[in-house]
Amino acid sequence: MSALELQNLQVRYGGGWLQGPEHVAVQSASLTLDFGEIVGLIGESGSGKTSLLLAALGLVPSNGQVRLLGQDLRSQNRAGLRGLRAKAQMIFQDPASMLNPGWSIREHLHESAALHQPERDPTHIVGKVARQVGLELRLDSLPGQLSGGEMRRAGVARVLLAEPQLIIADEPTAGLDAALRADLIDLILAAQSPQRALLIVSHDLALVRYACQRVWVMLEGEIVESVAVSDLGRIEHHPYTARLLASAGLPHQEAP
Ligand SMILES: Nc1ncnc2c1ncn2[C@@H]1O[C@H](COP(=O)(O)OP(=O)(O)OP(=O)(O)O)[C@@H](O)[C@H]1O
Ligand SMILES: [Mg+2]
Repeated sequence: MSALELQNLQVRYGGGWLQGPEHVAVQSASLTLDFGEIVGLIGESGSGKTSLLLAALGLVPSNGQVRLLGQDLRSQNRAGLRGLRAKAQMIFQDPASMLNPGWSIREHLHESAALHQPERDPTHIVGKVARQVGLELRLDSLPGQLSGGEMRRAGVARVLLAEPQLIIADEPTAGLDAALRADLIDLILAAQSPQRALLIVSHDLALVRYACQRVWVMLEGEIVESVAVSDLGRIEHHPYTARLLASAGLPHQEAP
């Protein structure tokens, strides 16, 4: 069983009566993510990365096949979908959008603990995860009182409390400076285990090389290359991948 399997996934927006012209955000994506793997999804802005992730979790309509944690997404009822989404957690591109501005970080984390680990002592597990992400002194702050990096760590803490089998992080480090970026990625990597899969979306090839074992390269709604990170720069690449490598100052050969 794989953590995520997509076959000929297509995501289209618009095209309806009041929705304006149709736009194909994902053309036809096929990929497999296994447990124990850490894969990066890289591509320029608007290439369809977030759309692919949302479709993988059934959060936007799509065509094609999606198997999430071994289950066919299309054959799930509401309860089945809810169960799958609890085990496949997304760290969203905009962390503030996932937090209630009137709730302290402690309240957010207690809610996640009660939802996902109801049999355990919430004060104990919230304290533990808050220490893990370095927010133990900020538990009584409201989201608006946190810095960008702290807010993202609060998002990671909530995801960790769900003990998911799949973690999808959409641009988890966008807008952070280099030191905070490395801290946050290390925090996400520390959550990796053979029973879990990580999918990290980024514009940043250096980050993907550091964190991931494999990279999927997305261009204009298509996955144009799937390559082991250890092969980057050693094999012939799709011209777009070669361009990414060149702009990061790395060796590259373009396929003829
Ligand atoms: N709800 C929507 N309605 C219409 N078009 C959309 C919608 N969401 C995204 N799009 C379009 O689909 C395309 C892919 O968007 P998507 O957000 O998946 O890109 P992305 O690769 O995640 O970009 P970024 O790196 O900027 O986050 C873009 O052209 C975008 O404008
Ligand atoms: Mg995006």
